[in-house]
Amino acid sequence: MNILQVNTSARIFENGQGSHSTRLANELSAGLLAAHPGATLTVRDLARQPHPVLDETALTALFTPAEQRSPEQAARVALDDALIAEIQAADVVVLGVPMYNFGVTGQMKNWIDAIARARVTFRYTESGPVGLLTGKTVYAVLTRGGIHRDQPSDSQVPYLRAVLGFLGMTDLRFVYAEGLGMGPEAEARGLAAARAEIAALLQAQAEEALA
Ligand SMILES: Cc1cc2nc3c(=O)[nH]c(=O)nc-3n(C[C@H](O)[C@H](O)[C@H](O)COP(=O)(O)O)c2cc1C
Repeated sequence: MNILQVNTSARIFENGQGSHSTRLANELSAGLLAAHPGATLTVRDLARQPHPVLDETALTALFTPAEQRSPEQAARVALDDALIAEIQAADVVVLGVPMYNFGVTGQMKNWIDAIARARVTFRYTESGPVGLLTGKTVYAVLTRGGIHRDQPSDSQVPYLRAVLGFLGMTDLRFVYAEGLGMGPEAEARGLAAARAEIAALLQAQAEEALA
């Protein structure tokens, strides 16, 4: 089993401090590794290693045939290629997904913009689009200062279902850590609830592996 963990907070998690989503994603990945000793874990930490935005330079590079790219253009495309190779190789994906201004972070968007590539991770057919990143289980750990679960303000879950589903990733399992900005007691409750959800998901995963 290849596990890919993608940390999409702008904040680093270090010495027990910093990003809640990375902390919880670390715990989820550790649980998966404990249950599957032969598994490998690749961590893509976009706070430590930011991925560049999809801008004019990047689009021009992507739409230039490979053999005609300048060294700079080839290097830009190679950055996206590396993220595509990681997600293609993954059986299980663990995403740390903070809410920033009612959406995903710029880091998360840059990652999605990198992995969504026509004819590589999706393609269009006469009967519609086909996602090519199939057969993966995706765990998304959602961290929020407020409470948005099942509310119209939660644009993240529908967005992730749409874009990851488009790419072929339809087995999505969400963990909610909410109320993290509503004082110490609410934060503790939010983290405890998320850890209980992680434990339940790990239990379900272990049962699926045995079945
Ligand atoms: C720039 C910024 C924007 C935020 N926007 C929201 C928001 O729209 N809704 C919300 O509930 N919390 C919001 N928060 C709170 C974060 O969701 C919360 O701090 C969460 O822990 C972020 O995950 P992280 O710790 O992994 O970075 C925001 C935090 C920051 C830093």
